[in-house]
Amino acid sequence: MPVRHLQIAAFGGPELIQLVEDAALPQPGPGEVRIQVEASSLVFTDMLIRRKLYPVLKLTLPLTLGYDVIGRIDAVGPGVTRWRVGDRVADLTQLGGNATHLLRPAATLVRVPEGLDATRAEPLILSYLTAYQALFREAQVQPGDPVLIHGASGAVGLAALDLCRAYGLAAVGVASARRERAITERGATFVAYDRAGAAEELDRLSRDVGGFKAILDAARGEPLATTMARLAPGGRLVALGFSAAFRDAHSAGKAQPGRWARMRFAFDFLRIQWLASRAGVSGRVTFYDISGCRARHPDWFEEDLSTLFALLEAGRISPSIQRVFRLDGAVEAHRLIEAGQVEGRLVLDLGSSTRRGAWRGPEH
Ligand SMILES: NC(=O)c1ccc[n+]([C@@H]2O[C@H](COP(=O)([O-])OP(=O)(O)OC[C@H]3O[C@@H](n4cnc5c(N)ncnc54)[C@H](OP(=O)(O)O)[C@@H]3O)[C@@H](O)[C@H]2O)c1
Repeated sequence: MPVRHLQIAAFGGPELIQLVEDAALPQPGPGEVRIQVEASSLVFTDMLIRRKLYPVLKLTLPLTLGYDVIGRIDAVGPGVTRWRVGDRVADLTQLGGNATHLLRPAATLVRVPEGLDATRAEPLILSYLTAYQALFREAQVQPGDPVLIHGASGAVGLAALDLCRAYGLAAVGVASARRERAITERGATFVAYDRAGAAEELDRLSRDVGGFKAILDAARGEPLATTMARLAPGGRLVALGFSAAFRDAHSAGKAQPGRWARMRFAFDFLRIQWLASRAGVSGRVTFYDISGCRARHPDWFEEDLSTLFALLEAGRISPSIQRVFRLDGAVEAHRLIEAGQVEGRLVLDLGSSTRRGAWRGPEH
């Protein structure tokens, strides 16, 4: 059986994504399993990797895109005792997930409940787990706490708002004016970053609640000191992404941030790391990185992802999926991501025959 996957042989625009077919299935080695993939990521981070703007991963070409997967094990290598052929699993792959089949170390997998639809559950791996761990592991929020989310209309942001609603957190969501409905229908207070007076409104909302217990920042669109000033005593700013720098470049007609914008976000990133290590400030600001967190706490990865699957099964969360694509729609999907045309998530459906449930997404 051939393996079909989304490959790039050069870094750059969406048009470089190729649908490639390998003649033979890879065979799992010791400690590995082969997964027949049901669904995988189509997210902003995949786009950063494609453009070689993703600093925390060594990238060599050609590479297959795909930050996470849900699928079914269809072959087991020597020495694997925990898993059997037919088991349903999820993994954070960083690369390689946009494929019909892939090999993964058996030790890193998390069990997926049989009843969940793969395309509906896939956003839980990267987008929801990031939001969940930023809120509950990093900021250690409690029910009723006030939370501010920058980048609230994106994949991580809408996941965070959904979790705030599920756990009774009082959320304020910041996004562009056109996203007002998406934010308010999730029970959050909305502030548009592209309307006059946004900063003053955020200052006022912050004063009203005595400062935010947690600020999740997926965009990094404003000065660090401005954001930090809105923290409550004992509150924590969790920076996790830099989508504003890319979006600013894109709206200026550039394919990606120029040298100045890259220097700005490198400086911002180093400053956050430095502040996080400084006595007195440490604890107030941190940079969350899902892969680093999993490397340090593999038990949290399994526990938290299992919690998210259980929340979805119980109907307590509802991932916002704008569109589901097949492999041959990947170029269009990446174009939508680059143009900032996605509210919530896009998902790649690998059309596995093992998927259960009838949910197919709003457009298929
Ligand atoms: N650290 C981690 O472990 C981790 C995990 C997952 C993702 N990430 C990163 O987190 C970031 C967000 O990821 P995502 O998947 O949620 O991306 P996304 O779906 O593209 O969302 C981006 C968000 O940023 C907002 N935004 C864009 N330009 C902005 C600006 N100039 N000022 C303020 N907000 C702006 C967008 O709002 P509008 O659309 O309304 O303009 C949108 O809400 C990315 O940098 C991604 O790489 C990090």
